[in-house]
Amino acid sequence: MSTIIEAIDLKKTYMLGKIPVEALRGVNLKVDTGDFISILGPSGSGKSTMLNLLGALDKPTSGTLLIDGVDISKLGDNQLSELRLKIGFVFQFFNLIPRLTAKANVELAMSIANMNRTEHNKRTLELLETVGLKDRINHKPAELSGGQQQRVAIARALANNPKFLLLDEPTGNVDSKTAKEVMTLIHTLNKENGVSIIMVTHDQKLANEARRTVQMFDGEIQSDTVN
Ligand SMILES: Nc1ncnc2c1ncn2[C@@H]1O[C@H](COP(=O)(O)OP(=O)(O)O)[C@@H](O)[C@H]1O
Ligand SMILES: [Mg+2]
Repeated sequence: MSTIIEAIDLKKTYMLGKIPVEALRGVNLKVDTGDFISILGPSGSGKSTMLNLLGALDKPTSGTLLIDGVDISKLGDNQLSELRLKIGFVFQFFNLIPRLTAKANVELAMSIANMNRTEHNKRTLELLETVGLKDRINHKPAELSGGQQQRVAIARALANNPKFLLLDEPTGNVDSKTAKEVMTLIHTLNKENGVSIIMVTHDQKLANEARRTVQMFDGEIQSDTVN
């Protein structure tokens, strides 16, 4: 198996005014292509910080992050933007654009490189079908349930065929039935489409469904076990 992400001694210190907050204290993590990892840990243990770093949304204070073998600190802004297109991100609060329909939300995220309008349109509809929202394409976020909004967010994250998907508590704000549906979708993407998954969750049961569970505590990885 090849390695898609490698984090070496990643540290992140935020400055809260003049007070440093050590959110990550040296994290080492290797993610294989096609892997499924869940990240557990108490609130404030650094889960979101780690996800943001792994997704190149934020820069570490020190340490190295290799994505697909490339040290991302060596990339310029344009290369970094290009790389980010290959990473799917799903946030806890969906972060959809309220005035846009489900279709437009997905379409907006899609890079136009190598695709004409017709292909673009076709792929958007395919993605919304994949997440089971074929009959809701013209609905705006407020006209969708929480679970449906989360599925639009997943379709959007898949827009550019990402190699890996980072999900920050994807089921944190939906009811348990919807959580099950969202989890089924995540499993399908992993098994059938080979998308690597890194998912933060506070739910031990959902975490156990992953191949690997990483337990965080106080900015460090406390354990990393194969389920
Ligand atoms: N932008 C920020 N500025 C200052 N401190 C932050 C910032 N983001 C997170 N933190 C702090 O970093 C620590 C880790 O936060 P976070 O990664 O959000 O944890 P988790 O997702 O596990 O709840 C916490 O102590 C939090 O207060
Ligand atoms: Mg968090």
